[in-house]
Amino acid sequence: MSKENTAVIVLAAGLGTRMNSFLPKVLHPIAGRAMILHLFDTLTKIDPDRVVLVLGPDMESVSDKVAAEGYRFEVVVQKDRLGTGHAVQQAENVLSDFKGNILVLYGDTPLIKSHTLTAMLDKRRMSTNPGVVVLGFQSFDPSGYGRLMTNKFGNLEAIVEAADANDEELSNELCNSGVMVIDGAILFNLISNLSSDNNKEEFYLTDIIQLSRQNDRECCVVEGNEDELLGVNSRVELALAETIIQDRLREKAMENGATLRDPSSIYFSYDTKIGSDVTIGPNVFFGPGVEICDRVLIQPFCHIEGTFIESDAVIGPFARLRPGADIGQNVHIGNFVEIKNATLASGVKANHLSYIGDTRIGKKANIGAGTITCNYDGYKKSMTEIGEGAFIGSNTSLIAPVKVGQNSITGAGSVISKNVSDNSLAITRADQKIIEGYAVKLKNSKGPK
Ligand code: UD1
Ligand code: CA
Repeated sequence: MSKENTAVIVLAAGLGTRMNSFLPKVLHPIAGRAMILHLFDTLTKIDPDRVVLVLGPDMESVSDKVAAEGYRFEVVVQKDRLGTGHAVQQAENVLSDFKGNILVLYGDTPLIKSHTLTAMLDKRRMSTNPGVVVLGFQSFDPSGYGRLMTNKFGNLEAIVEAADANDEELSNELCNSGVMVIDGAILFNLISNLSSDNNKEEFYLTDIIQLSRQNDRECCVVEGNEDELLGVNSRVELALAETIIQDRLREKAMENGATLRDPSSIYFSYDTKIGSDVTIGPNVFFGPGVEICDRVLIQPFCHIEGTFIESDAVIGPFARLRPGADIGQNVHIGNFVEIKNATLASGVKANHLSYIGDTRIGKKANIGAGTITCNYDGYKKSMTEIGEGAFIGSNTSLIAPVKVGQNSITGAGSVISKNVSDNSLAITRADQKIIEGYAVKLKNSKGPK
């Protein structure tokens, strides 16, 4: 049986005025990923035939971002933002040859899950052949949402926008999420009959419900959960969306076998990968691109992004791992150690107060407290190489490019600017002098403190 065609129209042309931002609303990140990309990630799971993104003028940054992720979609530009109905109308030309269901999504409603979309598409295929299926939800704060007015059979009669609703309509708490599946054979005809005779003087997509019913096509509701359907219009709602997605990510990590000592203080990215029996202490932040293998211990107050951590490593407390950190098996990274673009082979220890950047470190090398790789001379970055089994004395400065050979030692406080051969000691500090009796002499000349 051939699959029924589905086209998706994603509305994202709105100015997002209430965000008070120079960034288009749908590019604001949630769990480290732009809102609009969350939506496109979800869409891959329902595998639509066509995706049309409706943007405003000067919003190439949005299409560029989506294209950079390899997604295939078409863009139409809505020059004047005359409302959600008018926004959908902009897709009419590019979809003129399309036959099937049209799913409308709002770019500012990014938390929706694919199984909810599948449930809506299934409902559209019911034998009663509904013209429009609308996704509704009960909201703890319904104030800004359109309300779904149903009849005694549960069918949808109209959607009333909050700005146009009377008190009785406002007391109905069944809200419109904005997500709809519409029979493609009628959508653009319904849209052509919209009027802007309402309080916002906009062409509301929501008015197609009444028009569809006038054409004897019933409309129905699928109910979803608010934590999938929250619309992000302000920074406060952005923070709410972040809370919802973080809770999902925490649950997923725990289900996959990680122990989170204080889940609500641990922040993940949309793509954080965590193995089994990983333990994460309180107040840990994961930026994008982190993968952690089995049995790793992350102690409290670490900041980790773009990092791969092999099994049995111990990180922190208070460690900062930056993009390109590649941490080997059983490596120990201690407090106030920053690592960037560096590969640490298994068993390396860097336990205290260090900066390790653009560096390769061989197995079981020990990096003393206060070691700094001086990787930047103000013009370019250079590499430091530290051989297997090397012992870098405390407070060593390694002036890159430089190599310390296998099993070599650097003396504490040394500034290493030349390569050190294998099995050697390199030491650059000045000899220690002792002036006997000087302290007493000083005290006698100055008097008591
Ligand atoms: C809309 C719905 C409301 C629903 C709510 C759910 C309408 C008339 N109202 O209200 O019933 O409860 O979403 O979150 O549909 N957009 C355009 N072009 C425009 C106007 C909007 O592309 O001319 C896009 C926006 O970028 C946004 C989406 O459509 O992604 C919704 O627009 P918004 O202005 O946020 O609608 P709401 O007032 O939230
Ligand atoms: Ca909205």
